[in-house]
Amino acid sequence: MNPSCPYCFSNETTKNGFSKNNVQRYRCNNCHKSFCANTTKVEFRSRKDNAIWYKFNNCLAKGFTLKESAKICGISVNTATDWKKKIKFSNSSTYISQIQKEKIYQYNEKNKADGLALLDNIIDNSVDIVFFDPQYRGLLDKMKYGNQNRQIDRIALPQMTTEIIRDFLSQIDRVLKKDGYLFLWIDRFHLCEGIGAWLNGLDLNFHTVDTITWDKQKLGMGYRTRKTAENLMILCRHNAPTHWTDHSIPDIWPEKVKKNHPHSKPVELQRRLILAVSQDNPNAIVVDPAAGGYSVLEATRLAGRNFLGCDVEFG
Ligand SMILES: C[S@@+](CC[C@H](N)C(=O)[O-])C[C@H]1O[C@@H](n2cnc3c(N)ncnc32)[C@H](O)[C@@H]1O
Repeated sequence: MNPSCPYCFSNETTKNGFSKNNVQRYRCNNCHKSFCANTTKVEFRSRKDNAIWYKFNNCLAKGFTLKESAKICGISVNTATDWKKKIKFSNSSTYISQIQKEKIYQYNEKNKADGLALLDNIIDNSVDIVFFDPQYRGLLDKMKYGNQNRQIDRIALPQMTTEIIRDFLSQIDRVLKKDGYLFLWIDRFHLCEGIGAWLNGLDLNFHTVDTITWDKQKLGMGYRTRKTAENLMILCRHNAPTHWTDHSIPDIWPEKVKKNHPHSKPVELQRRLILAVSQDNPNAIVVDPAAGGYSVLEATRLAGRNFLGCDVEFG
């Protein structure tokens, strides 16, 4: 896949020859600017090796002082001071704002951990975007369908009770910034009957602002009709000033996925959504506390943003 445009974030880019140094160049079909994959990275045109930049950034993320980071990376304190400024003001995902109370979980990595513990460790009102794809039996439990012989890999996953989902939603409400967004994956049953049981009685500040139907382009299972789609609810907090910039995302989104988890979600849709609400915020942090096959991590990487997430089974 071609990289998205670093200027307007459009995904409509095409290859556009090579630079003098034989680096692949791209052209954006939307804003018509040309660029290479590393144009907006802080390490662009640096005389130091990229590995030293990443090491330095990791030191900062882990909370080392400038002096300590400089020593670890074998650079002078002056260079470290200069790099820190560049990272802070760069249009790059390298700089990570600290949202954890204690530095326990790795950013931009898979963490095998309980999602509630990860959320509990996040500072109030610090997160820009949360994706939540809870694990539950929904219709199967309501209708008391046994499915011992069907979807065995799904049943084997740790299931969340309504109480646990409510705990997740309360924590998400606490950690999201006032203008943050929650993208909540739900099944058709909850879409029809509502998510009242998840929200009733909780003093949450979310309201639903839109839904997207993901057309999986594939005929799935079903007890009556065969499933070809899943649903995403878009929620934000009351009175949040809207900063949704991309108005070209259709409410029915066709995307085939390569599954690396029984519930893998569409990477490109999630990438577009991340950019739609963080176009003016390259340092935005995306949280996924039940990440499964980490499709949100991949989407976040492709969007050039930062990720913090975990799964109790996968890491
Ligand atoms: C629906 S799947 C997520 C799929 C993911 N969105 C993807 O694209 O691959 C839900 C995941 O929640 C995980 N899970 C269940 N209870 C959890 C908990 N307490 N903390 C973290 N993850 C949990 C399950 O292991 C499962 O992988």
